[in-house]
Amino acid sequence: MCGIIGYTGNANAVPKITKGLSVLEYRGYDSVGIAARTEDGVRTVKCRGRIGMLEEKLEKDPIVGSQCAIGHTRWATHGGPSDINAHPHRAGRVVLVHNGIIENYKELKSALQKDGVSFLSETDTEVAAAVINACYAQTGDPKTAIRMATAKMKGSYAFGILFDEFPGEVWSARCGSPLILAKAKDGYYLASDMTALLPFTKEYCCLEEGQIAHLMPSGAELFDVDGAEIVPVWSVTTMTPESAQKGGYAHFMLKEIYEQPEAIEKSVSPRIINGLPDFSADGIDASFWKQVKNIQIVACGSATHAGLAGGHVLESVAGIPTASYIASEYRYHPPIAVDGTLVIVISQSGETADTLAALRYAKSKGLPTLAIVNAVETTIAREADYRIYTYAGPEIAVATTKGYCTQVTVLYMIAAAIAHSCGRIAEADAKEMVRSILEDAPEAIREMLTQTERLREIAAKIVKKDHIFYIGRGMDYAMSQEGALKLKEISYIHCEAYAAGELKHGTISLIEEGTPVIAISTEEALYDKTESNVREVHSRGAHVILLCRDDAKNPQLSADEVVLLPTKSDAGLLFASLTVVQVLAYEVAALRGCDIDRPRNLAKSVTVE
Ligand code: F6R
Repeated sequence: MCGIIGYTGNANAVPKITKGLSVLEYRGYDSVGIAARTEDGVRTVKCRGRIGMLEEKLEKDPIVGSQCAIGHTRWATHGGPSDINAHPHRAGRVVLVHNGIIENYKELKSALQKDGVSFLSETDTEVAAAVINACYAQTGDPKTAIRMATAKMKGSYAFGILFDEFPGEVWSARCGSPLILAKAKDGYYLASDMTALLPFTKEYCCLEEGQIAHLMPSGAELFDVDGAEIVPVWSVTTMTPESAQKGGYAHFMLKEIYEQPEAIEKSVSPRIINGLPDFSADGIDASFWKQVKNIQIVACGSATHAGLAGGHVLESVAGIPTASYIASEYRYHPPIAVDGTLVIVISQSGETADTLAALRYAKSKGLPTLAIVNAVETTIAREADYRIYTYAGPEIAVATTKGYCTQVTVLYMIAAAIAHSCGRIAEADAKEMVRSILEDAPEAIREMLTQTERLREIAAKIVKKDHIFYIGRGMDYAMSQEGALKLKEISYIHCEAYAAGELKHGTISLIEEGTPVIAISTEEALYDKTESNVREVHSRGAHVILLCRDDAKNPQLSADEVVLLPTKSDAGLLFASLTVVQVLAYEVAALRGCDIDRPRNLAKSVTVE
């Protein structure tokens, strides 16, 4: 939700900001802007639209000679997308970009209005700028002004700030929204996300809650929540600039689908010792798993679906009662925790506000928390008691693919670890689980990716439909939910997932001649039951696309299209069906000419509640 970037140093600032913004666009892309320090003061250029529109504006009327600038790409919350609401915002002697929400902005605004301050935009950000400006007018000192002002604010923020009287300096503060400080030979940077800085440097330091950073061309100062100076602790990222580029694929989403086999291997390999699941490198040993009697998985969107799929394995293999909860509901209707409850939060970005709030809630109740996170050193990863990284690499497409894939992978490994350490399965079975996820799952994905042409043909048959249904039972229902979300999210076709047995209790009335129904049937024991449901919709005119095991008998009898999934193991089937639902969503969206990597109204990292 909004991306911010800042730079000061001895190089031309504008191309750095625009380059960083083009990487950050996945965080929001309805408006964009830059404020650059020039000899004549701070110049701001901003507009509704995407980075290309800002670049066009800058081409027509370039900003020259700037070595210090801040930039912003927006996902609108307060005030619709418009030139005026775009960041940066100026208030008096202060120019500011912001990621987050100032929840008490109305009170702050009316207090300022009483003092004669007027506002141009509808944003909470302009109010934040005005509050900082009012404090700055009193003190003349940026740090004191930021501390005074942020003490009045409720909500979340990552700010990049320019003060008129301090040329060549960028100030910054963080609470609730992510912020990275970075250093390079040519100066100092800040950004919402390390991927935006990969073209310039690998050395970074994450700002903690309440910290303030002061960037100068020759150095950076960091202050703790009490205003005392502290020494930044620099780390070196292992990400490469190439990992955040499309690498010849038409879209990031497609690239990320193809990266899944490798992502699984990377997530599993470091967690095997003697062929058995082992999380000791993550600081979790067998005795930890032995204490787990009940699991609450908490996440949003696809990550919740990963929890549903993982929950099936945890219950069926490890015998641990597991439920997957939507994070935004978890706090309000907290499930009852018993002795031995473990809360697992799942987040690709590690910054999702609802998930973070649920994590904090669980911690406040004294429950042990484990985070499954992809983006390293992010707030959720740092705040959880334990963390397991998914090692999928940067995920840029808004719709998650490899993120989800590796979340399920890690849950599968956790199920194997718990089942084995608690003696619920034999060593040989635990080894087989590990082998199947390490070998069969990547192989199944690669195999299904050889069938993209066929999946495109199927996509062409459903591309003009207004409604599509997914059905499945058990694990296949969990996968149906992910397939339906992926399809509707990027193609804008209405798509719903139903438990296959539930259709006849209402939804079947929506089936008419030609309605596409995508049925997933990978569980041998449930095949006949799902087949009956397939026949029910088929005989009522549905165009049935059946994804089923390759050992199913005569699947073509009840379906219009059949996609056979390699039946080597449960893990292989799971990831084969995942690949098909992802590719189908991608192909339908591509045929409809949708903006696949940046679907309308969405953003990658949802840092507002
Ligand atoms: C859907 C999708 C979202 C995310 C959700 C959680 O394709 O990507 O539903 O899964 O917003 O995001 P993270 O995992 O970053 O917490």
